Amino acid sequence: MSMNDSLRKARQYEAGPVRSPVFEPRPRLHFTAPVGWLNDPNGFSWYRGQYHLFYQYYPYGTHWGPVHWGHAVSSDLLQWTYLPAALAPGEEYDRDGCFSGSALEMKDGTHLLMFTGYVYDESDPKHRGIQTQNIALGDGREYEKYSGNPVILNADIPDGGDPYDFRDPKVWREQDGTLYAVIASGREDLGARILVFQSRDGLKWSFSHVLTENRLRFGKMWECPDYFKLDGREVLLVNAMDMEENGPEFHSGNNGLYMIGRWDPERKTFLEQCIHTLDHGMDFYAGQTLAAPDGRRILIGWMQNPGTAAEHQSDRSYFGQMSIPRELRIINGKLIQQPVREIEQYRRDPVEYRNVLIQSESIQLDGISGRVLDMELSVRSADPCSEYERFELRFAQNSDRYAQFTFFPKTMTACISRLHCSSGHDSLPQRQTELFGWNGTLNLRMILDTDSAEIFINDGETVFSMTLQTASEANEITFISDGNLVLDVTTYKLDSTLH
Ligand code: FRU
Repeated sequence: MSMNDSLRKARQYEAGPVRSPVFEPRPRLHFTAPVGWLNDPNGFSWYRGQYHLFYQYYPYGTHWGPVHWGHAVSSDLLQWTYLPAALAPGEEYDRDGCFSGSALEMKDGTHLLMFTGYVYDESDPKHRGIQTQNIALGDGREYEKYSGNPVILNADIPDGGDPYDFRDPKVWREQDGTLYAVIASGREDLGARILVFQSRDGLKWSFSHVLTENRLRFGKMWECPDYFKLDGREVLLVNAMDMEENGPEFHSGNNGLYMIGRWDPERKTFLEQCIHTLDHGMDFYAGQTLAAPDGRRILIGWMQNPGTAAEHQSDRSYFGQMSIPRELRIINGKLIQQPVREIEQYRRDPVEYRNVLIQSESIQLDGISGRVLDMELSVRSADPCSEYERFELRFAQNSDRYAQFTFFPKTMTACISRLHCSSGHDSLPQRQTELFGWNGTLNLRMILDTDSAEIFINDGETVFSMTLQTASEANEITFISDGNLVLDVTTYKLDSTLH
């Protein structure tokens, strides 16, 4: 099998001495690259008895550069084994990057990767890159780019889409065996469009239909689409670039969005029934899903925000991490996200408190501290006739630094903040949203893992994710109330060494 020089070089580099994880803190259960920069999850799939995760990867620095596809495998979605990088740029059609894409097992057992090739256009005054869709075929370890690449050209975009915004194919197979791919596309006057291409063999592709258009709502371009059936409905995930703030739910900047709807076979279009923010925190983008062999739909995302990632540069050998994979369901018309149940086997040493009364004070509880833990918390008013004003959870805390989750029951507003974490530069230090509903009890689950927190509220109806740069010794946890409330809390340490 032929391997281009850039792939050989990347493989030597990532296995070489620059990879020195022994001396640096790494998250325990969040995926990080062996070395260098990581962004979007790619090719997230179940293949030959293992989960495969590929990712946008620039091994030679902790900043974005000509992207490769890194590769890892896992049997439980949490403990990953690195494999050598799978793709490196170098062909005429992907000289400046192998951009995001997806994977699928073909009927003959081959693992098909579909990715976007990126080549800077020297004649473009904005120095943008031409984007085409390409295929690589492999066996779960070695992948060879298809000799007939690109398989979808700019000329195949209907009614003159923009060649600089045409990327991130997510491929799936329908029951009749036809392959489809949703691809993000942009056009100045129309905004984002999600296009669907189809193929019988994975190599020859033709345009099928426009799944949906954003009509300039929610940003100008949508990236990294994903489209799947879930609980009898159709779900479309997109990642909106440079969105303008729109009410309490939609934040300005770059955001993952989900739409739940129905496929109209006659009009060949997606009928959107609702649109919501996928994750209300600062750091969850480019989420991609797979169908697990047991039927679960599992989402993993890049735990960063493309708008601010460059502000948080690293003094370590790596930068960037993935979220904890999440199980998705649709319940009462909302997309519900929960950490994969596999995490439960990593829980150790439970510490549990019931009916703790907090009366306009700030308390810490014996045995509840740490930077790597899984916490379940439920908070209710101490007096059914008078609501408390505010509940606050401080974590990753030391004498002068802390991260915060705050809830105001009277307005049903929840907020996360890293305003008081140490960060030299942070243009996105907090976010807040209104909860969908409120039955008097706030349920919260927090996965804290060294440099990040993921907070799942009301059984995963609302999720906040953020990265933290506070020194790892900051490990106190404090519960604060304004008014009288009662809480139940259980924490578990998360240990990555299975016994
Ligand atoms: C999203 C994204 C994708 C693109 C990739 C390049 O973060 O911009 O649209 O394929 O990153 O690394």
